[in-house]
Amino acid sequence: MEPQPQPHNNYVALIIGVTGLTGVSLAEALSRPDCLGGPWKVYGASRRPLPAWFSPSLLHHYITLDALDTEDTRAKLSPIAHEVTHVFWVTFQIREDEETNVAMNGTMLTNVLNVLRSSPSPRLHHVTIQTGTKHYMGPINDPVRSRHLASHDPPFHESMPRLPYPNFYYALEDLVASYAPSLTYSVHRASIIIGASTRSTHNALLMLAAYAAVCRHEGLPFRYPGTRYTWEHFCDMIDAGVLAEQHVWAAVTPQAKNEAFNCTNGDFFTWKKMWKVLSEEFDVEFVDYKEEDDFDIVEMMSHKGEVWEEIVEKHGLYKTKLEEIACYPPFKVVANFKFQHVSSMNKSKEFGFLGFADSFKSVRKWVARLRHMKIIP
Ligand SMILES: NC(=O)c1ccc[n+]([C@@H]2O[C@H](COP(=O)([O-])OP(=O)(O)OC[C@H]3O[C@@H](n4cnc5c(N)ncnc54)[C@H](OP(=O)(O)O)[C@@H]3O)[C@@H](O)[C@H]2O)c1
Repeated sequence: MEPQPQPHNNYVALIIGVTGLTGVSLAEALSRPDCLGGPWKVYGASRRPLPAWFSPSLLHHYITLDALDTEDTRAKLSPIAHEVTHVFWVTFQIREDEETNVAMNGTMLTNVLNVLRSSPSPRLHHVTIQTGTKHYMGPINDPVRSRHLASHDPPFHESMPRLPYPNFYYALEDLVASYAPSLTYSVHRASIIIGASTRSTHNALLMLAAYAAVCRHEGLPFRYPGTRYTWEHFCDMIDAGVLAEQHVWAAVTPQAKNEAFNCTNGDFFTWKKMWKVLSEEFDVEFVDYKEEDDFDIVEMMSHKGEVWEEIVEKHGLYKTKLEEIACYPPFKVVANFKFQHVSSMNKSKEFGFLGFADSFKSVRKWVARLRHMKIIP
């Protein structure tokens, strides 16, 4: 019989948003017997039952709860409130106006922390909060505010001051910091996340995969939905596996307590080069950028729900609806940035997190994974 690893810390994780892009990778990381700080006991939560592609063996127990609902959260988390030592916050609710986002996301986090803190013998001592580069850009998806935003100049650095706009990321940081000193926290400011889930609000790779599949199915050109500027300038992204590693590292590393860290793969790419990789992976012809192309991916894909259903049927894929798995407006915003979307990883490295990925290899890996999960053809 193989020797079983002995728990050292008896750490118990609760991943809120476990079926999302980062949640899945966190469940995989934390369930490995040799995970930093482990072996861990891992609970995961989100609203809907587990999808068929999610392996229940990654979790000790899966909990369905709506973190927006105070009573539901209390009922579902009270039985484990005395056990949980670490919360991994990888969930969010997003609406158009940022005031609503501040209110909703603040309520969700308050509901969860209040239950865990109200146990007669709470063990909770660290919360990781995932946010993103909107910390430096402001509410870019708010249709009114986005027209007048004065964002920071990239590369984004953690020391940049907050912008003078409402931002639910700031609200979450302030909220978790308000529990000090009885709790520590870390903030993970993610770039565009590349991973595999059908339960994600903004899944750039799946959105591009669905677009490419429609182009292939209908014999349409796989055009880039942005500007020449973003086609030729640098952007960065983050592999969901590396992001999960950064969460775990910060959760168990004393010098990372009460700090915020950017999280990117540590390299850059141009969409022009990435488009070649995507074209190869999705088996569509590479189409170079053309100025005269007046092409709106949001408009085009808004009519392709039935085509996606045909593709799912034809290839025997896991059943999804296009509008549930692919959200095109945020990608259109990214593809039309007037600046290079890049963040510095210096602080993260200086504090001791050295995780990285080659963005091109990462994209190829996650495309293969989505295919293996039978989510894309
Ligand atoms: N996606 C990106 O590329 C990206 C990039 C940078 C930053 N971020 C930031 O990262 C954070 C996490 O986003 P993500 O993209 O990793 O998440 P995600 O993939 O969209 O996953 C969200 C998860 O939360 C669950 N969920 C949603 N509402 C819930 C509720 N009320 N109660 C309980 N569970 C709920 C979802 O499952 P159910 O729907 O079944 O509940 C799902 O498991 C956000 O702040 C986001 O802005 C994301």
